Amino acid sequence: MKRYTEFEFSAGLRWTHWLRALAIFVLIVTGFYLAYVFIVPAASDEPVLFLNAKFRMWHEIAGFLLIAVTIFKGYLFIIDRQSYKERIAFMDILNPKVWFQQIKYYLFMGKHPELRGAYNPLQFVAYIGLYAMLILVSLTGLILYVHAYHSGVGGALYDYMRPIEAMMGGLAMVREIHHITMWGIMLFIPVHIYMAIFNSIMGKEGSMDSIISGYRYNKSNKH
Ligand code: HEM
Repeated sequence: MKRYTEFEFSAGLRWTHWLRALAIFVLIVTGFYLAYVFIVPAASDEPVLFLNAKFRMWHEIAGFLLIAVTIFKGYLFIIDRQSYKERIAFMDILNPKVWFQQIKYYLFMGKHPELRGAYNPLQFVAYIGLYAMLILVSLTGLILYVHAYHSGVGGALYDYMRPIEAMMGGLAMVREIHHITMWGIMLFIPVHIYMAIFNSIMGKEGSMDSIISGYRYNKSNKH
């Protein structure tokens, strides 16, 4: 069967995907340490080790990277002309027929539906859930941050974060929500990777290649 290449993901979208993957990886490793200090440096008389501070520093660097990437991705989704394929995927959510076809496909009971955009409806809804979690983890992260850093960004955001902190039930609850959201994000990751591999193997359209090169294969010459 002849295959045609089709441009799917812009460079900005691909770069932000992998930067976000890196940020989330660093945040999970350092976040686990902040929640439960699992390594301790060898004892020293000099006060120079500051391992906890170093872990927190990398957590915050990755945290601000995650926030920046999320804002930029949101901007691309709404504004970017090349991200049209992402936006138009929303139309398939409104079509119950596509939902049924997609579920049947995952149960090995039918063919993959013809999609209008880059994502199938189940995938799109999962991404909306991911964004909800990313916003929550960023917001709770910023609340924790403003309590440790009172100048610069921390100082500028302090007055805005305090009412949200109160609405969430206080700082201890904020920390709890931040931690639980991490588990939500951690559940998303293996499912996301499994689905990407599943679609790549079953669909034979190079869907995993497209998040690296930008191009996928299309069995028809429709563009
Ligand atoms: C995928 C994203 C993230 C994950 C998985 C994550 C995970 C965690 C975890 C598990 C903790 C420890 C909470 C506890 O004590 O139980 C923590 C603390 C913290 N996080 Fe995050 N976090 C994320 C994003 C962010 C973001 C975007 C920021 C904002 C800059 C941030 C700032 C903080 C701060 C300031 C603390 C408190 C550090 C301390 O207690 O000294 N986090 N994070």
